[in-house]
Amino acid sequence: MRLIIFILTISTVTLISSTNLNISNSCNCSELFNQDCLSVQSNCDWNSQTKQCQEIECSKIELSNHCVQSSKRCYWLNKQCNDFISCETIPGKSQQECIDANIYCPASNGINCLAIEYQQKCEKIKDPETCNDYYSPDGKCMWNGINCIILQSCTQLWSNKTKSCLQRGCYFDQLSYSCLDMKCSKHQLEFECQFGVPTIGPYLNNIIPCKWDSINRVCQNGKPDEYTIDQCYSHTARTYHWSSSIFNKGQCIACYGYILSIIIIIGLSITIII
Ligand SMILES: *[C@@H]1O[C@H](CO)[C@@H](O)[C@H](O)[C@H]1NC(C)=O
Ligand SMILES: *[C@@H]1O[C@H](CO)[C@@H](O)[C@H](O)[C@H]1NC(C)=O
Ligand SMILES: *[C@@H]1O[C@H](CO)[C@@H](O)[C@H](O)[C@H]1NC(C)=O
Repeated sequence: MRLIIFILTISTVTLISSTNLNISNSCNCSELFNQDCLSVQSNCDWNSQTKQCQEIECSKIELSNHCVQSSKRCYWLNKQCNDFISCETIPGKSQQECIDANIYCPASNGINCLAIEYQQKCEKIKDPETCNDYYSPDGKCMWNGINCIILQSCTQLWSNKTKSCLQRGCYFDQLSYSCLDMKCSKHQLEFECQFGVPTIGPYLNNIIPCKWDSINRVCQNGKPDEYTIDQCYSHTARTYHWSSSIFNKGQCIACYGYILSIIIIIGLSITIII
């Protein structure tokens, strides 16, 4: 009994304090109120008759990154956004081609794309070519000369054997002459800061949220639940939304975690009562 409470508490806490944004948990149009729905980043449209936020048709999505991230609804191919049927129906010779079509199809059999379950673990990969740019479920892979290993930090890329720093999520630091993990403070413009920074961490769970400090004019780590109505949806890779339709009310809440937290909290209360 105490153990159950302990586990539930720990899982709620980790859920709330998780630092990376999990793109798999991006908001559905139906969860968005007017303001977020009309954001340039959403693939949604506000229906003023029904007062509901709805998905826009894939064929009307013009930006590839909007199309590619639109859950399993659309995919990008031949410079247009198409209706998604299955990962297998999308042609793609490599993991990268498949990710560029739909992020939920990050695997390939050499001919067409495959669903996320087919994404391989680094240690299963035997050739350096496939290994070096591969995105495993747990993060980026790297060939260390003998095995395919998971990249724990960008510094590993700039070793005596391999000297590279081309990985998304890493940057080359001239001062220390090494390859380092990206951080919010690397963004020098307010506009860039909103997108957060990519990391080499788990696939689709690899964006650190950032926030612009307008007094000191620097980009720093952000906490989504402290974001304002204008930052909430746009600065969280669409994984948080504003909780109210009334301008001066509400707060920034996670679209997925919030629901899960409530379930856990209800579970916790029931456990305590019993
Ligand atoms: C991200 O969210 C998905 C869907 O809820 C979940 O299956 C996955 O485990 C999460 N990833 C991480 C690293 O927490
Ligand atoms: C890398 O090279 C330097 C200088 O030659 C050496 O001191 C260091 O031990 C080497 N590091 C590794 C991990 O081999
Ligand atoms: C979003 O929509 C998908 C598909 O309709 C559904 O499976 C999922 O549970 C929804 N997520 C939330 C958080 O409502």
